[in-house]
Amino acid sequence: MKNRNPRTFQVKSFGCQMNVYDGQRMAELLEAEGLAPAGEAEPADLVVLNTCHIREKAAEKVYSEIGRLLHRPGESQPLVAVAGCVAQAEGAEIPRRAPGVDIVVGPQAYHNLPELVRRARQGEKAVDTDMPALSKFDALPGRRRQAPAAFLTVQEGCDKFCTYCVVPYTRGAEVSRPWAAILDEAKALVDRGTREITLLGQNVNAWEGEDEKGRRQGLGGLIGALDALPGLARIRYTTSHPNDMREDLVRAHAEVAKLMPFLHLPVQSGSDRILKAMNRSHSVESYVRAIERVRSARPDIAVSGDFIVGFPGETEEDFEATLLLVGAVNYAQAYSFKYSPRPGTPAAGMPDQVPAEVMDDRLQRLQGLLREQQLAFNRATVGARTEILVERTGRKPGQLIGKSPWLQSVHLEAGRAAIGDLVEVQILDAGPNSLSGAPLMRSAA
Ligand code: 5AD
Ligand code: SF4
Repeated sequence: MKNRNPRTFQVKSFGCQMNVYDGQRMAELLEAEGLAPAGEAEPADLVVLNTCHIREKAAEKVYSEIGRLLHRPGESQPLVAVAGCVAQAEGAEIPRRAPGVDIVVGPQAYHNLPELVRRARQGEKAVDTDMPALSKFDALPGRRRQAPAAFLTVQEGCDKFCTYCVVPYTRGAEVSRPWAAILDEAKALVDRGTREITLLGQNVNAWEGEDEKGRRQGLGGLIGALDALPGLARIRYTTSHPNDMREDLVRAHAEVAKLMPFLHLPVQSGSDRILKAMNRSHSVESYVRAIERVRSARPDIAVSGDFIVGFPGETEEDFEATLLLVGAVNYAQAYSFKYSPRPGTPAAGMPDQVPAEVMDDRLQRLQGLLREQQLAFNRATVGARTEILVERTGRKPGQLIGKSPWLQSVHLEAGRAAIGDLVEVQILDAGPNSLSGAPLMRSAA
């Protein structure tokens, strides 16, 4: 039996940080409607699956998750909402294939979730995959969450059309949120205890807008305005495109102390031939130059990237060029993926698809090199004194986990520190994925 009178909900987000942000906003929206978050062990009456479509059998995974939800033994069936990029890509096809799904809502339409839930209560199938530019932000309730580190979406969508990527189809065209709306949301977060804000966008450094005096501003200007917010201690941004590393942003890395020394700049491949086939519109050289500009503004910057191995037509020589680029850049961390053909994208129909075992081999070699670099980067911070923003408790009793300025996870003994504190620590030890540190003293809040 379907439970058509939901009192509790759960939002399960998959994929990128934009989805994490959207998932939090959906939760806030449902709470504003009087629903309560379900407890850890308790089955929710309404489950929102906030899906990702970027790689590998995403849709298949969603269907099997739906199947699990609808066959909870001995319990009434929850209302099931599919949100996110699979919802956008598949639309009304989802309830046709999985009749137990009640709501389908795209990433640009989730402000309508309360209305869709109302329709689902009546037994209707409610589908909304409209893409009105930005109206969702105006329709969302105020921020409620107060994590020490919060996301804030400032830009959505992508006009770049890399030939492997679904994002331009699922998230729509590049749109920047207005200056005042972003500053208002940042203030609301800081008022509720947030110390660090990560500005999010599929192409966050393409953000542009007008400040309160009507002057054109880029992301660097926006970061400058956030710098002036008392109570905000740290600013980050992600994800950037190499072609949009403009001068104001590079300058912000030199001038704004709150801007953390971390740059996530995807490159995908170290071969110009493959970059061209990917329609990346930058070269290996222009990518390296963008990093050099940021490094001269902020010499301790930690560089991160994204890589795809096995793009159609990638030869051993192309792949070795990627390894050479990794050697030249020296990454603090990075993400690397096997190419996954996305239905409807140009690359999915390209000749010379690379066999799975070749992709596996290349991914292992690339990840081996990236792991070495990450470990070396982490080890180089041993002995350093730095500031940690404490974000959560660890598994061991009395243990806290926070982030260094370079986005490393640092474990420490709690002492007098608490979640939300900025703590001065000395780094004692480093592994590939985390560091441990000892608090030196409690810094002024
Ligand atoms: N196959 C593999 N990886 C992909 N990415 C995007 N699309 C694909 C695809 N079709 C990766 C890129 C991007 C990151 C978010 O996901 O590296 O930067
Ligand atoms: Fe996808 Fe390329 Fe846009 Fe990034 S820049 S979201 S990889 S199309």
